Amino acid sequence: MLKKDLNSSQPVVEAFVKNKRILLIIGGGIAAYKCLDLIRRLRERGAGVRVVMTRAAQEFITPLSVSALTNDRVFSDLFDLDDEREIGHIRLSREADAIIVAPATSDLIAKMAGGHANDLATSVLLASDKAPLLAPAMNPHMWLNKATQRNVEQLKADGIAFVGPETGEMAERGEAGPGRLVETAELIAALETMPGMSAGGPAASGPLSGRHVIVTSGPTHEPIDPVRYIANRSSGKQGHAIAAAAARAGARVTLISGPVSLPDPRDVETWHVETAAEMQAAVAGALPADIAVFCAAVADWRVAEQGGQKIKKEKGAPPPALNLVANPDILRTVATLKTGRPRLVVGFAAETENVLAHAQAKLAAKGCDLIVANDVSAAKGVMGGDRNSVHLVTREGHIDWPEMSKEDVAAKLVDEFVRRFSESAFSMTDKAKRAMKSDKPRHKKKKVRKS
Ligand code: C5P
Repeated sequence: MLKKDLNSSQPVVEAFVKNKRILLIIGGGIAAYKCLDLIRRLRERGAGVRVVMTRAAQEFITPLSVSALTNDRVFSDLFDLDDEREIGHIRLSREADAIIVAPATSDLIAKMAGGHANDLATSVLLASDKAPLLAPAMNPHMWLNKATQRNVEQLKADGIAFVGPETGEMAERGEAGPGRLVETAELIAALETMPGMSAGGPAASGPLSGRHVIVTSGPTHEPIDPVRYIANRSSGKQGHAIAAAAARAGARVTLISGPVSLPDPRDVETWHVETAAEMQAAVAGALPADIAVFCAAVADWRVAEQGGQKIKKEKGAPPPALNLVANPDILRTVATLKTGRPRLVVGFAAETENVLAHAQAKLAAKGCDLIVANDVSAAKGVMGGDRNSVHLVTREGHIDWPEMSKEDVAAKLVDEFVRRFSESAFSMTDKAKRAMKSDKPRHKKKKVRKS
């Protein structure tokens, strides 16, 4: 495996960085010298490495030595006319499969957290369409300083990944603590988890290539006060699996996820939200799309007025009553868009009884093209579990799929999207109609109670 290869003299057998374009932003810290080794290791593995150096970084290592290792010029000046004519800082970030900032100094971290763009490095980072991987290195007191920790938390909340720092002896005599740049092997291993870095990268071709797919996933959390919230048992496994399967089929995927404990899927742009209102805003921001799959278990209600402070128990007083208001129905809003409606809008119906009848009613009520219905009664163990047994419900009828893993449901669903996209004008063919099991009684517009 890669991690073992790094420090051995064995030839590299497998390297996920092969043919990847890495943009390395070198900050001004004593650990900058370690970037020379990082560049060598990445190049050995077939990656192209392009480097941006801050002015301070050039005090520690020279652009000449970096340039000799990258076999490319080093970028350092925001106002280099040649590059700016070609929108240099935007091109630099867009052309990269991944961006590493190493050493990420306290100053670079602070500038990123504040959205500054007063030099080439910070402009590239602000203009980037992909989150960088930050490898911090600094004096332990600087790392532990409240201001740095505040900035780090802010960047993490913004979805930026960190690797390190390590704890140990510092280059300064007598100084020890957290602040060492991670070893090259660990940095490269962390790179593997970045979007765009999977073996072969995002499927450049595939039946959904050129398509944009939006997937919502997970629960939403609706705050009651600063410490309490309303939630549900959704794990996000099914939605995340669909996002991953669509990416494998070559689509550009935007996954909008409520709070889950799953890693972001590979090659999927994942936006993290908490509440239904945030999810709705994120979906609106992600449109236009060809396909939108609403898998999230959005809370139906939120608390009308959340307390600014923790609600206190008053001795002898009755428990507080929660005044709930309805959340926006994101699926219905998108499915009934007059302009910019995705060609395929897919909803989920998590039911505990009369699954098919409720799903048929939901299809009509929400205006979507397809409902994936499942029985989430406690006995089935679907919520949080790894398996699912679903029914695909359309206006023409339904297909029952046997129980299978959530990954297999995702893969079959994506096959279904592909089949539908290859059909002209998106109408069902006779063959497809025949494939749908007739479900006549349910086609009558029965009034069904919405669960
Ligand atoms: O109405 P119900 O919650 O049963 O509908 C489930 C479907 O609607 C799911 O696809 C879910 O993601 C979507 N939904 C939504 N916004 C809501 C409620 C549900 O997008 N507020």
